[in-house]
Amino acid sequence: MTLKNITVLGSGIMGHGIAQISAMSGYKVKLRDIEKQFLDRAMDKVKWSLQKLAEKNKITNDQVEEFYNNITPVVDLNEAVKETDLIIEAVPEDYNLKKSVYKELDKITDSKTIYASNTSTLPITELSKLIDNPNRFIGVHFFNPPQLMKLVEIIPGTETDPLIIEEINNYVKKIRKTPIICKKDVAGFIVNRIFIPLVHEAAHCLDRENNSMEIVDSAVKYRLDFPMGIFELADYTGLDVIYKATYEMNLRDKKVILPHPKIKELYETKHFGQKSGKGFYEYKGDKYERIDLSEEKASKYDPISILAVASNNASWLISNEVCSKEDLENALKLGMGLKTEIFKLIEKYGVQKVLDELNKLKEKYGEFYLPDKYLLSLK
Ligand code: CAA
Repeated sequence: MTLKNITVLGSGIMGHGIAQISAMSGYKVKLRDIEKQFLDRAMDKVKWSLQKLAEKNKITNDQVEEFYNNITPVVDLNEAVKETDLIIEAVPEDYNLKKSVYKELDKITDSKTIYASNTSTLPITELSKLIDNPNRFIGVHFFNPPQLMKLVEIIPGTETDPLIIEEINNYVKKIRKTPIICKKDVAGFIVNRIFIPLVHEAAHCLDRENNSMEIVDSAVKYRLDFPMGIFELADYTGLDVIYKATYEMNLRDKKVILPHPKIKELYETKHFGQKSGKGFYEYKGDKYERIDLSEEKASKYDPISILAVASNNASWLISNEVCSKEDLENALKLGMGLKTEIFKLIEKYGVQKVLDELNKLKEKYGEFYLPDKYLLSLK
């Protein structure tokens, strides 16, 4: 089978980006949302992004038009899935919402359609049971912004047909991304198992150590070599996305996150981050904007507890054979833009110092910080 027509359900940050990169590789894409105003906004973002890429000579001005025209925005669901080969579902991270979407889809698609979910945390095997034919279901997880981040995690469910895995692997390569297979269908897959808990850990650092957000973020950026600070990245990703991912992950695995109430509070007060003008930080508009972080601010804080939590979750992924160490480092580089490998950072700080920090945190705040056996084996 060769994929030609793709339907992307949901035109938010991820949906419009997935539609755009698919359109940029020659696919005919239907982008579907429940209201025309959402689609109008999404198509404006596609235009903005294509023009940005043209400004940087990554594509030509003619291609801006060509790629834009490869996307058809549609409200009607029947129209959106007519003759489609692949449906990529990128609706908000809410199990009940996804359930109703799949129920509706199953009535109108033909038996050959591939279902791929861009869920950031929900178990693929659980979602695959929502359709009649679970062997045609797979997880395909992109990273924000999909236009720039090279990673796509592929998560097969227990019943996914191997031919579908191959088909999706080829699609990911065709859109010039790097596929990494997540070998176990665990909460948060690979990257979110590290990223989402860090948002909570960074919030704990503010209370426990009386720090400012800019100082913590500067330390993360300049001392741990992240491309953005954690609060900056959380605002950029969206506090709605982070909160929902937290909720769904925590429901399934209590060990993964030590929740901080600030995330729920920001979600409930609709301070979703950059897109709503306020999250941890305040913004001028809803467009791409960066926080003023500096090496001078970074020199005031040692982000060891943040490194310790990231290291522990990275180690958990290896101990539990979710991915190899090489795939893990590659995923963090391509999905979160980490410039230094996490296990190199651990070496730089010293394994014992990282373990001492986890043990100290465990004494004060409980078993969540219990060091993982793989990390212990590095001593
Ligand atoms: N399309 C095209 N261009 C874009 C763009 C888009 N969608 N978004 C931003 N840009 C442009 C910016 O406008 C900017 O252009 P200028 O140079 O003209 O100003 C440029 O790209 C970025 O340059 P910057 O110097 O501001 O930033 P940078 O070099 O740090 O790169 C970044 C930006 C790629 C976002 C980088 O900071 C990064 O990798 N950040 C981490 C992102 C990350 O971790 N993503 C994953 C989050 S988790 C997730 O998504 C999964 C989930 O399920 C929750």
